[in-house]
Amino acid sequence: MKTIDDLQVAGQRVFVRADLNVPLADGTITDDGRIRAAVPTIEKLAGAGARVIVASHLGRPKGAPDPQFSLAPVAARLGELLGRSVAFAADTVGDSARDTVAGLADGEVALLENLRFNAGETSKDDAERGAFADRLAGLADLYVGDGFGAVHRKHASVYDLPARLPHAAGGLIATEVGVLKQLTENVSRPYAVVLGGAKVSDKLGVIDHLLEKADRILIGGGMAYTFLKAQGLEVGDSLLQADQVPAVAEYLRRAEERGVEFVLPVDVIAAKDFPDLKTKAPADPVVLSADAIPAGLQGLDIGPATRELYAAKLADAATVFWNGPMGVFEHPDFAEGTRAVAQALLDSPAFTVVGGGDSAAAVRILGFDEDAFGHISTGGGASLEYLEGKTLPGLAALED
Ligand code: 3PG
Repeated sequence: MKTIDDLQVAGQRVFVRADLNVPLADGTITDDGRIRAAVPTIEKLAGAGARVIVASHLGRPKGAPDPQFSLAPVAARLGELLGRSVAFAADTVGDSARDTVAGLADGEVALLENLRFNAGETSKDDAERGAFADRLAGLADLYVGDGFGAVHRKHASVYDLPARLPHAAGGLIATEVGVLKQLTENVSRPYAVVLGGAKVSDKLGVIDHLLEKADRILIGGGMAYTFLKAQGLEVGDSLLQADQVPAVAEYLRRAEERGVEFVLPVDVIAAKDFPDLKTKAPADPVVLSADAIPAGLQGLDIGPATRELYAAKLADAATVFWNGPMGVFEHPDFAEGTRAVAQALLDSPAFTVVGGGDSAAAVRILGFDEDAFGHISTGGGASLEYLEGKTLPGLAALED
């Protein structure tokens, strides 16, 4: 895989596919981690005299412009972080994009509007994606892939465009892949994995793979209730993917057979209703033993005994990978489980990797110093698929 250092970028129009898919609340960016992670590559290219065309998706618009998913707030934040103005094109391959790119001088930076405002970006039809990639290619001379969070998507700007331009990997992708390699090749043991988040169905592939790799798997978040159910416990009104219970039971059986320790919550923090994340009104939480969740209550975080148990299970690990919050961390009544896992990672001498998405945002939103972690990935789904051993389209496309 070539890097930026292999490209002659001075005076060239360089298309940088970043992942600037940041969480927004009423048009305000609530976590700018992905924008900050994109800055070094953009700075390096601009500093070398490139005309930098940054592009990204934001959210999941339906292939047409939708103001709630505009990248305009991201352009403003990127400009602040770069300390220079960022020209913003109001479209992706239309007049505004062409004029904006034509107006760039060497060392200047532009951001295109959301790539997913064009149906060709995410199309499953190769020809439709290719046609959009052709139009994007018309804007640039060189391509730099640096949107690690999107490399698992076979999308026009991720997969088809690099085939049309001389290309290289940006610094962020190089760093991310380097770290994930440490988790897949010669990992230091004990290797502990903490998995959370809402849906167990999103994690089946990675659990399947980790049963061959990890020494210890700790489960939290909404997905924990499907595991508790698979152990024969009642979970009240908690999130449950009933159709996944047999698959989960099979994982528990295989883990036992292989000597992989599966650790499930022993207590939970529950409430009658899902909390209001806007008002953050008190939610009347109660602590319950994991084998005593009655109908009418739903588990929304791991409980205090589980926090202690998980901290102990992480204390002697040599490598820890964590993906997915332990509860509804956006509400103060259900944030302590996620906070405890983050703290346990900080207290551990292990090499610690926080795998993207919600868990990375949680670390920052809960006020932790992100530099204290071994690595915070910008890719949630992408890092999981990498650990599953899948071929990621956006990485395959950057191979020479
Ligand atoms: C992410 O948030 O994981 C990436 O930006 C990819 O977004 P997507 O799941 O909408 O493709």
